[in-house]
Amino acid sequence: MSFTEEYKKRKEEFEEYLRQLTYEFQTLPSELSQAVTYSLLCGGKRLRPVLLLEAVRMFGGEPNGVAVNFALAIECIHTYSLVHDDLPCMDNDDFRRGQLTCHKKFGEALAVLAGDALLNLSHELILGAIDLEDNNRDALIKAGAVIAKAAGGSGMVGGQSRDILTSATERTIDYVYEKKTAALISAALEAGALIGGATAKEAAQLGEFGKIFGFGFQLKDDLLDGENDSQNTYLKLFGKEQTKNALKEHTVAATNILHGVKNSEFLTELTIHFMERTE
Ligand code: IPE
Ligand code: IPE
Ligand code: MG
Repeated sequence: MSFTEEYKKRKEEFEEYLRQLTYEFQTLPSELSQAVTYSLLCGGKRLRPVLLLEAVRMFGGEPNGVAVNFALAIECIHTYSLVHDDLPCMDNDDFRRGQLTCHKKFGEALAVLAGDALLNLSHELILGAIDLEDNNRDALIKAGAVIAKAAGGSGMVGGQSRDILTSATERTIDYVYEKKTAALISAALEAGALIGGATAKEAAQLGEFGKIFGFGFQLKDDLLDGENDSQNTYLKLFGKEQTKNALKEHTVAATNILHGVKNSEFLTELTIHFMERTE
């Protein structure tokens, strides 16, 4: 099976879990359930859950059960961040993943609440998956802590706040990219490794890979979006050539880290695939 077919298979498997999760929203007020379901199911690459589940596999864990709860949680966090990022007070975007943004379809107030519900759902999924009688309970708690920290003020939210309030400058752009994009990608990998049974050192190494890959992922996003972004981007600040060179450097550095990591073939292919993607 080619990498593209394998990725598609994993993405679709994950999307089936995601659909099952949305059946549980029947107990929510219907308007909230609709906004949350719409945002979760309206497309996306599902990169973070695929990375998390791959990291679980790499260290000998099963990519199901508890691991799936963590993968769902990280996609919920990612989706909430996009719903809020698109709001008029933030990037003010009308379309996301080719469809109307959550606030365009359901109104601003409900979009704020849908984001709140998704963030909270991530805690429910993670904490609900930790069985205190389980042998690997400590690893799961650590994995949950890694994700929580990466999503918060010293991670993704911090990066968003720097991006929104100061519209990144040459001095702050690295911070913004490391936090708003790379932090959650890195956490998906580190948490997945911990769940799979990696040592703290092995998990941290995969997290390091994630930071570099995540930065490169955002550079590629800039190149694909072009210069019409409302925020300052690396592309706007440094130009196309320098952005392409930086992307190349990040790809090489990321794959170099993987040379020292066992069972990393899929991640190596994924790195190259995402850095070379055309959409
Ligand atoms: C978009 O992330 C926002 C960034 C951090 C660059 P993705 O490109 O992973 O978004 P989806 O989930 O595939 O739509
Ligand atoms: C979004 O970054 C990053 C988040 C953490 C939500 P951008 O604003 O650059 O991404 P797009 O262009 O809306 O997907
Ligand atoms: Mg945006």
